[in-house]
Amino acid sequence: MYSILVRFLFVLSAETAHLFTMHFMRVALCIPGIKKLLNTIYKNENPVTFLGLHFKNGVGVAAGFDKNADYLEILETLGFGFIEIGTVTPKPQNGNDKPRLFRLVKDRALINRMGFNNEGVEVIAARLRRRKTKLIIGGNIGKNKLTPNEEAVNDYAICFEKLYEVCDYFVINVSSPNTPGLRALQDKDELLKIITKLMSIRANFVHQGHLQKPLLLKIAPDLSTEQLDEVVEVIHQTNLDGLIATNTTIGRENLRTSASEIAAIGAGGLSGAPLTQKSTEVIKHLRLKTQIPIIANGGIMTQADAQQKLDAGANLVQLYSGFIYGGPGLVKQIAHIK
Ligand SMILES: Cc1cc2nc3c(=O)[nH]c(=O)nc-3n(C[C@H](O)[C@H](O)[C@H](O)COP(=O)(O)O)c2cc1C
Repeated sequence: MYSILVRFLFVLSAETAHLFTMHFMRVALCIPGIKKLLNTIYKNENPVTFLGLHFKNGVGVAAGFDKNADYLEILETLGFGFIEIGTVTPKPQNGNDKPRLFRLVKDRALINRMGFNNEGVEVIAARLRRRKTKLIIGGNIGKNKLTPNEEAVNDYAICFEKLYEVCDYFVINVSSPNTPGLRALQDKDELLKIITKLMSIRANFVHQGHLQKPLLLKIAPDLSTEQLDEVVEVIHQTNLDGLIATNTTIGRENLRTSASEIAAIGAGGLSGAPLTQKSTEVIKHLRLKTQIPIIANGGIMTQADAQQKLDAGANLVQLYSGFIYGGPGLVKQIAHIK
């Protein structure tokens, strides 16, 4: 059934299809009986405890799918075990000009240059305070486009403080390719500055009687092995709680889509099937060096891809492109991996 829906949705532009589907689902859930029916079909109970948190199952929605925490109930109904909202920035911003999201159907891939379009931390925190779902929510945080890198630490601090009480874990996003200069924050000194600041904010919250909430770092698949080793050093120095490997790639290797189509699309992060192997290699390398908890993300398009990430040493998985191409049926298959 999902393949018929996909044929219709793929006639629309990628961003329109996303908005249409999520609005349609929101309306559909108001029809008596629909939510119960979907809950019955997509209930994926396979509990996992990770980072001291109890997940309904080990399959999450990757960041960027529900940037503003608008669709939590829908995504829970479709069977996910956790949702990462964001990337959230201190001030609202529109992101890049449209079109900024493209399908590469032949490659089962996407290219996006959204540019952290989001409603800003105040609005999103208020929405999360009113949330009905008890699902684990991750808060993925970043900096505004106009904030210079020298002041980036303040943007991360603002988002972390304002979301602390309404999210269950946090992700420092320094790996999106669509905010100019952001990936430079993956350098050792920059990372140390941001992580140390957030750790001290967290210590204050704990001092005031709040829970100590896990802090993770999301990294790019385009880091060299030397850069990955530096990240590992920072992790050990700061006692960071976990990693998300990986974000989208700026690479364009081994694509079936023609070079002219790729050139016409232009800049952006590539996700989906062409990323599978690259992000698994990152996980394998990290596992040789550290026991840190890892959430795998990047090119999980089948149950076998998810199994490969777990075998490489990941603890949980997240989907974006796989969900676009495979729908909730894929979530179900992966959620029931033992
Ligand atoms: C349209 C789109 C928007 C995204 N926005 C974000 C974002 O705001 N923050 C982030 O950390 N990752 C973002 N991502 C990256 C995804 O979270 C994920 O890391 C990446 O797509 C690789 O996973 P996949 O192959 O399952 O899609 C975005 C991806 C897409 C396709």
